[in-house]
Amino acid sequence: MPNSYVSELAAPGRTIPVRACDYESNPPVMLFPSVGEYPVYDDFVYDMMLKDEDRVGRYAAAVPRYAPGRTVLDIGTGQDAVWALAAARAGARHVWAVEVMPKSAEIARKVIEEAGFADRITVIEGLSTEIELPERVDMCVSEIIGTLGGSEGAGSVLRDARERLVKPHGLFIPHRSATTAVALDLGSATGGEPPGFPPAVFRFVENVFAAVGRPFDLRVCLAGLQESPEVRERSYLSDAVEVEPLEFNGDLRPEGVDRAELTFTRPGHFSGLALGVRLWAAEDDVPIDSLHNWSTWTPVYAPLSETGLPVQPGDRFTFEFTTTMSDDGVHPDYALTGELHRDGGPAVPLRWRSAHHPEGFRETAFHRWVFPET
Ligand SMILES: C[S@@+](CC[C@H](N)C(=O)[O-])C[C@H]1O[C@@H](n2cnc3c(N)ncnc32)[C@H](O)[C@@H]1O
Repeated sequence: MPNSYVSELAAPGRTIPVRACDYESNPPVMLFPSVGEYPVYDDFVYDMMLKDEDRVGRYAAAVPRYAPGRTVLDIGTGQDAVWALAAARAGARHVWAVEVMPKSAEIARKVIEEAGFADRITVIEGLSTEIELPERVDMCVSEIIGTLGGSEGAGSVLRDARERLVKPHGLFIPHRSATTAVALDLGSATGGEPPGFPPAVFRFVENVFAAVGRPFDLRVCLAGLQESPEVRERSYLSDAVEVEPLEFNGDLRPEGVDRAELTFTRPGHFSGLALGVRLWAAEDDVPIDSLHNWSTWTPVYAPLSETGLPVQPGDRFTFEFTTTMSDDGVHPDYALTGELHRDGGPAVPLRWRSAHHPEGFRETAFHRWVFPET
């Protein structure tokens, strides 16, 4: 029984073939579109986010700890205005809750009214980067962390908030994020054949293509890796390293080049990297780690070799991870250039590039697998 089959999804002006897989397929590693970086609301994704107890728990602990007596800016309040309400309930002096999606802002306004906080929470519809506040606030809360730490725009959006909307030395929740990378043997994760998208996420992929106006090589995640110790055990070939550090309460740099090195700890076929996120809601928190626990942030797959390069313990992958701002000024483009160093052999150059909204479609072997021509 093959793990995947070819189905079809709608793209602007045409339908396109797409690699699909059954939800119950065995092994249970499947593709998922990277969420959070396109202006697409989806019930399935929103629901999953609110059910992420780890994410919700960290914020639910941090917000009431810092909000009492403070003025608060909640960037991306969402339709339930969860952190705006948590701040107001904890005794914030006033909360400005900003939301760019009109429908979500409208629902948030109703939810806040029904909760009896309309006098203490002001909903502002729009992008935080385009609004003004009557005064700078004491504290900013947001959850605009992407599947890669900065992919949803946290770096540029929160730097703008620091420069214009929050008082100097004002406090930010979350405190810090970093993107994490681990060497991956995709074949071992999936039992051989690369996986496909479960039909439940077709609509989300279609909406992403509609938002950009065309199909393109979107960033793709691997669901089923993070929560299964057995799958991690057989497919993670190294320990994880951090790149793209974002210090929301410090020197926040949305762009940069990070140099890192992964040492292989077990033999396997090195096919690419699983990229995740570590997130500290508060400074003294143990971080959420999306490469090692189930979370709403699913690891992104950065393919480097179609067949997988044989590696042994002690071999190394050295790389530069580059984050530059895309032409929308908010969402980063990512690129990775590296070398695989194997015992006695010549260094093997490897590259990956993942722009936020690239011109190309089916430009990589991996995307030609995901979106076959016929
Ligand atoms: C991941 S959801 C989080 C919702 C809610 N705060 C929570 O934690 O459950 C992010 C929300 O932020 C909104 N958003 C992202 N960037 C924004 C910005 N710069 N200004 C206003 N809203 C933004 C999105 O539309 C989305 O509703």
